[in-house]
Amino acid sequence: MSENNGYIPGLEGVVAAETKLSRVNGQRGELSIAGYPVEVLAANASFEEVIYLLWNGRLPSPTELASLRDRLAEQRTLPAPTLDLLREAARRDVRAMDALRMGAGTLDLDAGEDLALSATARFPMMIAAYWRMRHGQEPLAPDHRLGHAANYLYVLSGVQPTAVQTRALETYLNTVSDHGLNASTFTARTIISTGSDLVSALVGAVGALKGPLHGGAPGPALDMVFEIGDLQNTEPYLREMLQRGERIMGFGHRVYKVRDPRAEVLSAAAEKLYTSGSAIQGDMELYNRAKHVENTAIALLEEYKPGRNLQTNVEFYTALLLHGLGLHIDLFTSTFAVGRVAGWIGHCLEQQRYGRLIRPASRYIGNDDKSWIPLADRDPIPA
Ligand code: COA
Repeated sequence: MSENNGYIPGLEGVVAAETKLSRVNGQRGELSIAGYPVEVLAANASFEEVIYLLWNGRLPSPTELASLRDRLAEQRTLPAPTLDLLREAARRDVRAMDALRMGAGTLDLDAGEDLALSATARFPMMIAAYWRMRHGQEPLAPDHRLGHAANYLYVLSGVQPTAVQTRALETYLNTVSDHGLNASTFTARTIISTGSDLVSALVGAVGALKGPLHGGAPGPALDMVFEIGDLQNTEPYLREMLQRGERIMGFGHRVYKVRDPRAEVLSAAAEKLYTSGSAIQGDMELYNRAKHVENTAIALLEEYKPGRNLQTNVEFYTALLLHGLGLHIDLFTSTFAVGRVAGWIGHCLEQQRYGRLIRPASRYIGNDDKSWIPLADRDPIPA
């Protein structure tokens, strides 16, 4: 027992589940997803292969993959009540993550038997429908010839993405598909551990991901690169931030004390997108500026926080990659959910198979010696 009587704030370092979905080694900067190094899986697999892997523990055969693709395609069309709700959300200008949370709550109205499939198929459809309606456009029907990642880009913009653009999004979705017992995954596992249902677990997970300490950092990281503008402003801008005691977005990590391996994967994917001239918005000038910001930030962080090993995290290159794919900053966190939903579902399946009710304890720090005062005798205005 620690001096805190077993209380570990934030459950930091507490092992609360066993999983075969991903291994995170923060000291060595390694991540493997269901046994494959993230560098290999993210760059080579289609997102459908990763879904299959996370839910079944092995890669699919060609026939199994084709069947999964077909079944996802069958589930893509959004039912009318979901569309009505998203239309209202768009009309009221709610944020993308709130629209997704509301839409996710309608999943069991009309999803058939396989909620896992329909949730995965419909998350991107809900985001795109809401986004288009928010901008005065009608939602687009899915294109059944397209895979999951390509279809998401298509229903957002109405334009069929190129192979390079599709690969870039696929790499992103694979990279963020699972990451140990992060806050949203823990939320999903806790909810499902009570014997509750998958829709409730996913709604809870979306709510947890929305928070700025979890899924909300890539927008500010990109805003910073834009604000810096000229290369020569980089160092004074970042120095001023650090002197004011502010944090540089996209750097540092609770678990990784070396470079986040996902930053490496996404930086390579972003480089390919920008150097091939396939970026929908942004260009090599933006890419080079971001590289310069990254190098300067790492050097200054070492100067101002020596020995902390504050390195680039996943969010910095997420921002650059998703921007290059034409996504608005407001869609970054919900696009994270499009990838992470596969991991949330994998964890729910694991929890249902092997898990125990998640029910930690708390330490009472209130008083035990209060005496009861009848209502009529209480002060009208308590001190
Ligand atoms: N910029 C400037 N200083 C930073 C920093 C950053 N991005 N990240 C950490 N630090 C500093 C802290 O201020 C602290 O300094 P101090 O000990 O002198 O007070 C020290 O480094 C250790 O920070 P700590 O808060 O213990 O790190 P953490 O592991 O709890 O925090 C993050 C991890 C991710 C919350 C933190 O690095 C951060 O806020 N990063 C920026 C936001 C971001 O990119 N989030 C996405 C994460 S994937």
